[in-house]
Amino acid sequence: MPDLILGIESSCDETAAAVVCSDRGILSSVVASQIATHCKYGGVVPELASREHLRAIVPVVREALERAGAGFDSLSAVAVTEGPGLVGSLLVGLTFAKAVSAARALPLIGVNHIEGHIHAVLIESRAAGAIVQFPALALVASGGHTHLFELPEEGRYRLMGKTRDDAAGEAFDKVAKLLGFGYPGGPVLDALAPHGDANAVRLPFSKMKGNALDFSFSGLKTAMLRWVQARGMDDEIAARRAVLRSSEHLSIEEWLAATPATTLNAIAAFQRVVIEELLRRLDRAAEESGAQAIIVSGGVACNQGLRRAATAGRFPCPVYFPTPGLSTDNAAMIAAAALGKFSRGEFADLTLKAKAGLTLA
Ligand code: KG4
Ligand code: ZN
Repeated sequence: MPDLILGIESSCDETAAAVVCSDRGILSSVVASQIATHCKYGGVVPELASREHLRAIVPVVREALERAGAGFDSLSAVAVTEGPGLVGSLLVGLTFAKAVSAARALPLIGVNHIEGHIHAVLIESRAAGAIVQFPALALVASGGHTHLFELPEEGRYRLMGKTRDDAAGEAFDKVAKLLGFGYPGGPVLDALAPHGDANAVRLPFSKMKGNALDFSFSGLKTAMLRWVQARGMDDEIAARRAVLRSSEHLSIEEWLAATPATTLNAIAAFQRVVIEELLRRLDRAAEESGAQAIIVSGGVACNQGLRRAATAGRFPCPVYFPTPGLSTDNAAMIAAAALGKFSRGEFADLTLKAKAGLTLA
């Protein structure tokens, strides 16, 4: 009998549930996004996130089971994100998963969210018949983390570098907020960047003391702030904020109409520097480790410019990205990471705690 795992993810601002099968892969993946709630605040408001998770968790799990054609009785285990993330958000998924585990006598599996992001790639590549070779590198870049790992083999992680300040996605979100765009900032800046000339604005690259594989985005963010201040862009930014207040969702054409060419140039330059910051670390790490494969995951892996640059023959080994739906937070990646733990009998019990600062290595 194949194993059937219900995954639950609620670490930040997506309430997600999925059913994954050891034989047939992802059977369902349902994500309730809270973007509409947080958009006007320019970032995730933790209290609102917890409340939205409470509203969404029951219908999202029900839909994931329905779409998979599964019931609680057919499950082998329930897996849940135990950290890292916002503690109030994590607690909703964790409490729900514990209740399912206790009521249905199902094993409970705690999953590290970052390990989940890596498994999004592993499960998809397996389904496509492309087996990721080890040793591999994994870059997990999202709103909460920017971590570079070496994987000597599947399931073993060595941290090679991490951000010392903002995560890459956080830099996108903060710069978007600074310029008067909504949250999340990555998708809108990514869509606008090709409309600007990246050579028209000079922005700095980080200079790392110590571990050269660490990341830093605060200098870039400050350079963007100075660029804005030097131009007296208050009216332009206020106009965009007004547009944002008037509508829940704006198309790229509407944003383009509200963004002059000089600002598009700065966005293009910003996007280019972030992409290069990420890829230069991967260049160096690939050389040091002799990696046979590179995995890029997390919300920033949706970035079109990053995907293009990383897959244009720059690296001596294959580079794997998840499909966009599995790049951002989802529960299929949590259930996928739990499959191996299930077969090894790595179970948690009802004392499992939310760990806001959980690390992977
Ligand atoms: O993985 P994720 O859903 O949540 C966290 O674990 O943080 O990632 C969300 C982050 C946000 O910061 C968002 O701006 C960023 O991923 N993001 C992007 C793109 N799409 C989402 N960043 C750059 N380019 C994109 N296309
Ligand atoms: Zn994430």
